[in-house]
Amino acid sequence: MKTVTRECHFKVYDNENELEPADAMLLQEAIKAVDNAYAPYSHFHVGAALQLSDGEIIHGSNQENSAYPSGLCAERVALFRAGAVNNSLRIRALAVTARTTEMVLNQPVNSCGACLQVMADFERRSGNQMRVILRGETGEIYVCDGIVNLMPLIFEFK
Ligand code: THU
Repeated sequence: MKTVTRECHFKVYDNENELEPADAMLLQEAIKAVDNAYAPYSHFHVGAALQLSDGEIIHGSNQENSAYPSGLCAERVALFRAGAVNNSLRIRALAVTARTTEMVLNQPVNSCGACLQVMADFERRSGNQMRVILRGETGEIYVCDGIVNLMPLIFEFK
């Protein structure tokens, strides 16, 4: 038996003024995407914006459904939307944020495991790591390079 320790590395910024301009811009796009969330059940409105390596920006927002499991997270809406029209895309970065009527989200919103797995597959397919930028409505911003820093034990099927 042995104990294995995996480290996750991410940067924590106090506010968006500290971000690199390209990341601050992408976060603003994710904030805009929140307005298109359809979340009448959870009241948790999530926005995502991804930027391809050629600069194109693609938005996503969570889309809920009266048959609950049929809904989809904002991240996967953006990723599948991008993949549906370009199966060889390279993603530079993905920003995610959220808003709810219940409280002020003053901590980053972390993507769920299913979305992280989809992000990891996009990385593997393109051969390049993705930067992820996470923020709540306000407060600190987490930035990491590579999904392995958010989910160290990614499922891989080769
Ligand atoms: N949600 C996302 O959009 N992204 C995540 O990574 C986790 C959760 C959505 C799904 C659902 O519409 C709402 O947030 C509450 O779970």
